[in-house]
Amino acid sequence: MIKKGLFITFEGADGSGKSTQLKMAADYFKAKGFDVVCTRDPGGTALGSKIREILLHHDGKIATYCELFLYLADRAQHIEEKILPALEEGKTVLCDRYVDSTLAYQGYARGLDKEQIMKLNDIVAKSLMPDITFVFDVSTEIAEKRIGKTKDRLESEAADFHRAVRSGFLNLAQEYPDRIKVIDASQDINKVHYDTKEILDNYL
Ligand code: TMP
Repeated sequence: MIKKGLFITFEGADGSGKSTQLKMAADYFKAKGFDVVCTRDPGGTALGSKIREILLHHDGKIATYCELFLYLADRAQHIEEKILPALEEGKTVLCDRYVDSTLAYQGYARGLDKEQIMKLNDIVAKSLMPDITFVFDVSTEIAEKRIGKTKDRLESEAADFHRAVRSGFLNLAQEYPDRIKVIDASQDINKVHYDTKEILDNYL
């Protein structure tokens, strides 16, 4: 495939505010005249929405590898049906979570082998990696407050799990400094957006 559009991913722990920042960044791109597609992982397609429902709301234990393969199954469909066609048409794709979430949650927090995750991801995602990835970083305590009382299956995990996710994202940012940019998401949302824009402007 010939990728013409930009692929940007928005990552962070639950409660980091990344989805709000994705919407603000989308408005910024649209104002500049870009043709923007906003999507999310998991759940970016009709089939993926059904997988997302299982992942976030299944009542009972999901085996760790079952969880991993459900995220990857969602991604396989998402890549083929939505992300690659949009990039081929030259659209800017903004995606709420992608492979770094799999590495942070299933790798760092659940303890699965990260190299193995990467190999499987390369198969389902046809080796597509983002041009830029933002990690919206916030303490586990602030994130917990932002999530509130109604929690899904992953949000209901213990604080130690969420701390492992957070440090996983920070480790990934150290490993891939050219691609992954960490933003202090404990700041006011407009300042977080400003910091995001600054990085985007430099990139563009
Ligand atoms: P969100 O889209 O509302 O952030 O919820 C998705 C949840 O799924 C979130 O808790 C992070 C988790 N997740 C993984 O555990 N692995 C993955 O590969 C992805 C994409 C998300």
